[in-house]
Amino acid sequence: MNYGHFDDERREYVITRPDTPYPWINYLGGEAFFSLISNTSGGYSFYRDARLMRLTRYRYNNVPTDVGGKYFYLRDGDAMWNPGWQPTRTPLDAYECRHGLGYTVITSEKNGLRAQQCSMVPHGYTAEVTRLRLTNTTAQAKDVSLYSFVEFSMWNALDDSTNFQRNYALAEMEFENEGAVIYHKSEYRERRNHYSVYAVNARVNGYDTDRESFIGLYNGFDKPDVVVNNQPKNSVAHGWAPIASHCVRRTLQPGETLSLIFTLGYCENPNDRKFIAPGVINKEPAHALLKEFATDAQFEEKLGELNAYWSSLLSHFTIQSDDDKLNRQMNIWNQYQCMVTFNMSRSASYFESGIGRGMGFRDCSQDLLGFVHLIPERARARILDIAATQFPDGSAYHQYQPLTKRGNLDVGSGFNDDPLWLVFAVVAYVKETGDIALLDEVVDFDNNPELAAPMREHLRRAFHYTAEHCGPHGLPLIGRADWNDCLNLNCYSSVPGESFQTVTNNDTGIAESVFIAGMLVGVADDYARLCDLSGETAEAAYASERKLLMVDAVEKYGWDGNWFLRAYDANGEKVGSDECKEGKIFVEPQGMCVMAGIGVANGMAQKALDATREHLMFDYGVVLNWPAYQEYHLNLGEISSYPPGYKENGSVFCHNNPWVVIAETELGHGDRAFDVYRRTAPAYIEDQQLHRTEPYVYSQTVNGKESYKPGEAKNSWLTGTAAWNFYAISQAVLGVKPELDGLKLDPCLPGHIHHVTIHREFRGNRYEIEIQNRAGGEKGPVQVIVDGVALAGQTIPATAETGKTYRVEVTVG
Ligand code: GLC
Ligand code: GLC
Repeated sequence: MNYGHFDDERREYVITRPDTPYPWINYLGGEAFFSLISNTSGGYSFYRDARLMRLTRYRYNNVPTDVGGKYFYLRDGDAMWNPGWQPTRTPLDAYECRHGLGYTVITSEKNGLRAQQCSMVPHGYTAEVTRLRLTNTTAQAKDVSLYSFVEFSMWNALDDSTNFQRNYALAEMEFENEGAVIYHKSEYRERRNHYSVYAVNARVNGYDTDRESFIGLYNGFDKPDVVVNNQPKNSVAHGWAPIASHCVRRTLQPGETLSLIFTLGYCENPNDRKFIAPGVINKEPAHALLKEFATDAQFEEKLGELNAYWSSLLSHFTIQSDDDKLNRQMNIWNQYQCMVTFNMSRSASYFESGIGRGMGFRDCSQDLLGFVHLIPERARARILDIAATQFPDGSAYHQYQPLTKRGNLDVGSGFNDDPLWLVFAVVAYVKETGDIALLDEVVDFDNNPELAAPMREHLRRAFHYTAEHCGPHGLPLIGRADWNDCLNLNCYSSVPGESFQTVTNNDTGIAESVFIAGMLVGVADDYARLCDLSGETAEAAYASERKLLMVDAVEKYGWDGNWFLRAYDANGEKVGSDECKEGKIFVEPQGMCVMAGIGVANGMAQKALDATREHLMFDYGVVLNWPAYQEYHLNLGEISSYPPGYKENGSVFCHNNPWVVIAETELGHGDRAFDVYRRTAPAYIEDQQLHRTEPYVYSQTVNGKESYKPGEAKNSWLTGTAAWNFYAISQAVLGVKPELDGLKLDPCLPGHIHHVTIHREFRGNRYEIEIQNRAGGEKGPVQVIVDGVALAGQTIPATAETGKTYRVEVTVG
């Protein structure tokens, strides 16, 4: 069964029934204020940091699922319903939800009353604004009552869901305009200088702010006492659970539309201007905000601005090819998801609670690969934030909190792939922008200004840390884990519940990662070139020399005969070898080593990718390892804690599928590359019921062939899969590659794509690229003509000139 379809013209996904196989969500907000909103109007909002600055409450893992959100309850005669269906779940006569870029529109109808709820976080504001339009489509007048509803959180989301002995005493509210404007000011009396406001731009007929009064202690969200009795109580929360609900009653004449604007805002005051009278908050910032959203015309204007903002962002890279699904992926959804992952890292989704994880060092660095062409300045600022958390020895905190921008030790350090991802990120940024001056930027180590050093020094320490922490085979030590968080070779954990991520109790100093070796080789040339460009020739020579040593080590000790080994454990035993009973082959080293060019000339790479196809590929993508571990292995850690076919133990961990795509193009296999790509790319997914998660974005994991339900996905939205797929298709398949010295054209297309036109903005110029593929599904010789003149080579040199348009004809084969 299908639950929706794409509307490419409007850049929307249209959901046609509310009872989707899982809540299908969207993200509102781009910079400071964020909301998650599901297709049934569930979700929550926060300011900057999902853990520390949560405006509204959300209960994860709830029954029924996804109750708690920003709701509108309607009373029309005996009928009581919600435009988003939840939480009353009253059957609707019509329902449609359109998730667009930064906004969501839910339209539904019941008994001749049509409701349309359009929510957005307007660009540049710290508020979620919803316009609700109610239209009487019948020939008789209707008496309609509307109740809005949001539930506030006590800011710190973890504390909010655990520390009731304190929190039940805190709630304090203020009101204006008879309750049309409701202020939640808990904790403002002491150290906070911020409050939230929920307001409607109309006269109200009552309000409620105490949850128990509004809902009733033993009722559910589906039967709030106030709505059931159609009578607001004007309750004021003193402690317990603060909410905001407005009641608006109107008579709608036939054909009449009532339009209301609801604003949920975050407001901040300078510490010396917090109050205007004892206990009375300074409402100036709220007034200024609400003035901007007082009329429909203002709402329309801001929605228009949001759309224009997205049109402009997406115009940096567009394609038209023979494959509509590819166009849809690349022009809209993949880039949109890249923005969301850049903003959220792995912090807040319907699977990431916003409490557990902050911004990942490696995650953020990789997310940048899909984002840097959108807003390079923000990518630059992010690189500086990440680098500032790096330890002086070059290693890294695994995560940092977005609000404080400080490393978070709860989640540990010592993941030995982390440092090199910073180098990858900087390389990607400089390739896109040419901004080599970044290397001179002075940045803290461990957020300590006394330890600050130029960015080039951060890269140097990252590279050296990796190159100089090697084991008996000359391969990099794995530390707590590498990219695969769950391959914990130095954690021999037999204590239930002990964290695999932070316990290192058996570090013999010998567990090595072939994957990190591949990373080092993969980034060494670019790093050396960066060094050369900034006059660090000795360091460039060091990087090149280390690369050769590492290639040698991988070919000697990281090769299993038919594929690349995964690692050596703390006893020096092989992981990911044909000699192993389980976990014979892993995808990560196949992808990473071939991407890095290891074994391309001597046939190892080809063998490794053949083995990947043979052992790891199935209908829904390439699984992480095979055979999955059937039992818990003390020497392997968390990976073997998952049942076979789930997560890191043999699921399709989508993140590393694009590595295989890129690797295939390294060998010139366009058809094989694309065949891997389409197995996980959302636009190609057919069975929505089996897949379950949103059909417009990548999920982190899809159950593997050895699971109970192969093909079922989990952990949608926040995954490095988005950035890597954008990178893989734009750079490896379509072959439009920003390089340090210019824009390289090097396509490796599948046979079904004969013709592609690409518009690419690069360092202030426009490139109108037209590719003719005459090579079928394998790569052929590439010819590039720029403005009618044949180019020697494939790279259009970067120039200082901007504002130019180049016509580029590329012929393959
Ligand atoms: C999660 C983590 C990421 C890690 C991956 C594999 O997606 O966010 O950092 O690389 O799992 O374990
Ligand atoms: C768990 C997850 C893994 C994630 C890690 C860090 O191990 O399975 O995907 O990266 O936690 O939070």
